[in-house]
Amino acid sequence: MQPSRKPRVVLTYGTFDLFHHGHVNLLRRLADLGTELIVGCSTDAFNQIKGKQCVMSYEQRRTILESCRYVDRVIPEDTWEQKRCDIVNYNVSTFAMGDDWTGKFDDLQDIAQVLYLPRTPEVSTTELRAQIGDRERRAMGR
Ligand code: CTP
Repeated sequence: MQPSRKPRVVLTYGTFDLFHHGHVNLLRRLADLGTELIVGCSTDAFNQIKGKQCVMSYEQRRTILESCRYVDRVIPEDTWEQKRCDIVNYNVSTFAMGDDWTGKFDDLQDIAQVLYLPRTPEVSTTELRAQIGDRERRAMGR
C-alpha cells in the first residue's frame, strides 16, 4: 500500500478572468505543493474595489475554476483582509501567489509558509483582452 501523504492545504487568490494557460500552470504547480488546493476567487464586488473590470462574472469564473482538475475547492474572495482568517479556518499550510505579488503577503509568514511562484511569461488576462480588441478593430477595418 502507498503511504498516504500528510494533509497539506495550499491556498491562493485571484480573479482568473478569461482563464488561460498561465492560470493553469500556476494551479498545477500549486496543487503539486500539497494535498488540497483552495482558490479564493475575487467576487465582482471585490473587483470593483480593486478597480478591475472582468469579462466573466464571478459565477462564471468560479464554475471554470471548479472544473479545473488541480482545484479542490473555490471560496469567494471579498476583501483584502480575509486571508489570515481563511488560513486559520481552512488549516492552510502554504499560501502562494504568482511572483507579481512578491513580498506583498510576507506578513502571513507567522501562520503559514508564503511562496511566490514565477508567472508564465507572455500571457495575462490584460494581454488577451488587448489582443481580442486589436483583432476586432482590424476586422472592422479601423
Ligand atoms: N498568473 C501566472 N502567470 C500568468 C498570469 C497570471 O502565474 N501569466 C497568476 C498570477 O500571478 C496570480 C494568478 O495567476 O497569482 C491569478 O492572476 P490574475 O490576476 O487573475 O491573472 P492575470 O492574467 O495576471 O490577469 P490581469 O492581466 O488582469 O492582471
